[in-house]
Amino acid sequence: MSTWTVHGRGPLRGELTVPGDKSISHRSLLFNALASGPARVRGLLEGEDVHSTASALSALGTEIERDGDAVVVRPRPLAEPADVIDCGNSGTTIRLLTGILARQPFLSVLTGDGSLRKRPMRRVIDPLTAMGARIDGRDGGRLPPLVIRGGALTPGHRFDLSISSAQVKSCLLLAGMTGGVWVREPRQSRDHSERMLRAMGADLIDEDGGLRLAPTAVLEPLDVDVPGDISSAAFWLVGGAVVPGSDITLRQVGLNPTRTGVVDALRAMGAQLEVEPVDAAGAEPIGNVRVRAGGLRGTRIDGELALRCLDELPVLAVAAAFAEGETTIADAGELRVKESDRIARVVQGLRAMHVQVEEHPDGMTIVGGHPHGPARVDATGDHRIAMAFAIAALAGEGPVELTGAEAIGTSYPQFAAHLEALTRE
Ligand code: S3P
Repeated sequence: MSTWTVHGRGPLRGELTVPGDKSISHRSLLFNALASGPARVRGLLEGEDVHSTASALSALGTEIERDGDAVVVRPRPLAEPADVIDCGNSGTTIRLLTGILARQPFLSVLTGDGSLRKRPMRRVIDPLTAMGARIDGRDGGRLPPLVIRGGALTPGHRFDLSISSAQVKSCLLLAGMTGGVWVREPRQSRDHSERMLRAMGADLIDEDGGLRLAPTAVLEPLDVDVPGDISSAAFWLVGGAVVPGSDITLRQVGLNPTRTGVVDALRAMGAQLEVEPVDAAGAEPIGNVRVRAGGLRGTRIDGELALRCLDELPVLAVAAAFAEGETTIADAGELRVKESDRIARVVQGLRAMHVQVEEHPDGMTIVGGHPHGPARVDATGDHRIAMAFAIAALAGEGPVELTGAEAIGTSYPQFAAHLEALTRE
């Protein structure tokens, strides 16, 4: 396991294009694998999570090949894989794929790394079982590996979900493609699947506060230009706001309103952010975002806003640690079942940096101040914990030792190189 020691640095300055959006990258491969012909995907994220999706699809017969700056997806009828499929660290891969495989007439087994094998799967297995799927898992069907004996599912199910999760919603839409399905979540989670399915000709309408997918025999292939990942941009938005003298412009960032909570939260904290929308990349809005350093103040992040910046909460907690006054994060209990228990990990990391934090079941309260090392933070299995505390180290005094920092490769392999580029001046 690699340890990365990050020291405080001078200002972060310059322009960057962050890597492609992880959620959209997964979907552009998975949905095009079900389409009626080949499609080209440009700007695909090269991180390990997306490689997990690509190799899973290859194991099922889809042809995926590089062609210049694009990746070409050539769908083939999905076929029984010869071996167990390893989804690595990727929750999106295992949950969306389970929805697809539940209705294929063959057996498949999905597993993952130590982090993924601890993540709850009942949220997809229970509704899929109600549709007639036969899926088993470890610990009474709660955990991967999952054994899926696929087959025809019963049509016309309605699911009123108790959690808002784009992975669960997308899984059920993919499973419901043949027979039709209706899904409602308490609050709107990221809507990349809805946008992409509609762009591919699916009959998906808003109905009774939920989504109704009519039986969809075939999807039209869709060429995708993947926008920059706002979840990766978030590290520089916070770094730029808290490292004195910084001025960073991030180009071609995805600005889907279900994902821009990080911009709204930082603005509520008084960050100097300028957002310049540019032409949409297909179904997704994009723009350039500039951030300049300036004093932050504490805020409250809860409800719908917390859902719109769920993956960014670790780095927003770091921003709060450098802000004046208190910040409370609430309604974010889902953070406990991500790549790690992100509430516990953030609280431990901030305390190691001498920050006063109170842990709550669904969030935390952070008293802003002067976080500093030397500190050691455990980032094993969780890319966003590693990057959040790398940003904390840049802005604080005294080094931070990140154990398990290789996890960064799952979503942002160029992170350390981009950090060098921004501090070169
Ligand atoms: C994702 C949805 C979110 C998010 C994850 C990616 C997706 O998970 O945290 O990083 O691509 O659908 P949940 O839907 O489980 O909350």
